[in-house]
Amino acid sequence: MWDRRFDLTITSLLLLLLMTTALSGLLADYLGVPRSLYHRLSAYSLVILASWHIVLRHRQFWSRLKAAIGKSHKPWIRPEQTEHKASGQSGLPALSRRGLFLSGAAAAAGFFLGRWLPMGEQPSELEGSDLGLAYHEWSKPNLWGLVRKPFHWGEQPPLYKDYPSGRPTALPKDFRYRGLSVEEAIQRRRSLRDYSGRPLTMEQLSLLLHSGYGITEPSYPLRASPSAGALYPLETYPVVNSVAGLARGVYHYRPKDHSLDLVKEGDFRSLLMTFTGGQDMVLQASVVLVITAIFQRTRWKYEDRAYRYVLLDAGHLGENLYLEATSMGLGVCGIGAFLDEQINHLVGVDGKEEATVYLVSIGTLA
Ligand SMILES: Cc1cc2nc3c(=O)[nH]c(=O)nc-3n(C[C@H](O)[C@H](O)[C@H](O)COP(=O)(O)O)c2cc1C
Repeated sequence: MWDRRFDLTITSLLLLLLMTTALSGLLADYLGVPRSLYHRLSAYSLVILASWHIVLRHRQFWSRLKAAIGKSHKPWIRPEQTEHKASGQSGLPALSRRGLFLSGAAAAAGFFLGRWLPMGEQPSELEGSDLGLAYHEWSKPNLWGLVRKPFHWGEQPPLYKDYPSGRPTALPKDFRYRGLSVEEAIQRRRSLRDYSGRPLTMEQLSLLLHSGYGITEPSYPLRASPSAGALYPLETYPVVNSVAGLARGVYHYRPKDHSLDLVKEGDFRSLLMTFTGGQDMVLQASVVLVITAIFQRTRWKYEDRAYRYVLLDAGHLGENLYLEATSMGLGVCGIGAFLDEQINHLVGVDGKEEATVYLVSIGTLA
């Protein structure tokens, strides 16, 4: 009697641990968490309990296994087991054709439900017409998300954007400049909007771009600012007003070889001012960095949560620019107020696959 209760308890615990290991693993995968404490704990507990169970029951296990494959019969097999044997049954449940068919049908149903069921319920009303709140609600992990997880949202696009016809301008690769300490830069950082109009050097522009989104660990490669899943959805377009040795115009930064593609030459200062609602800091800024996002780079993996991650990535990039500019004694200011379609058109992106998410103006101080 005790023996049975003990077996039942151990089996229930094993099943419970198996389920929590599987679910916590799925959840960690869904959220893109590389190391989940819950998953590790339940997996270790499962292994320990299973090992213990095997140590306690190994004699029964082997004898039943042998009995099942018809090679031997041992007296410590339970009576009902021997009855099964006597009646010509192996002691292990046989899988009937109906069972096989039902398992196949359940697997197929699970596959198609997971593939086609919607991610979750659409929020029925937008509280206070706040679309952000509705999106936030929508993008919380839920069961359907877990079920659908193996089926990604489309293909993963390339990590880098190329302008095949252009001839990129190489940027200096000397990153040895040492300015303020991180603590000092954080302490001194302010959004500054009055610039002298004097040009930046190519070295300064190069270091700013490198510190924002440059490759700092070439073997993987990893970049200067963190990115959800190391998917790097952002692109940087410097609109150059005043950089020594560089013609005015819109450029595209290529982290892969730390160079610039020329998108279009020209003086875009007054257009920039109009497209930022009349913010005249852009007239005197040496460069305005237009940061765009190629959403699919993050979406194929993180689905509905991708938009959150893309904006968080942009925040990290923006802060790196703030701190590096401060460390170099330059003025810097983030710009979130801009006319999307016009800025998208200015840098030549469609606003859907790739769209502007943030602007950062940088200039020399008086
Ligand atoms: C996402 C974001 C958008 C912003 N947009 C603008 C903007 O359009 N125009 C502007 O003058 N400042 C903008 N700022 C700068 C804030 O006004 C500034 O950070 C805030 O006043 C705090 O001042 P501090 O940065 O000097 O500490 C923006 C900052 C952030 C983070």
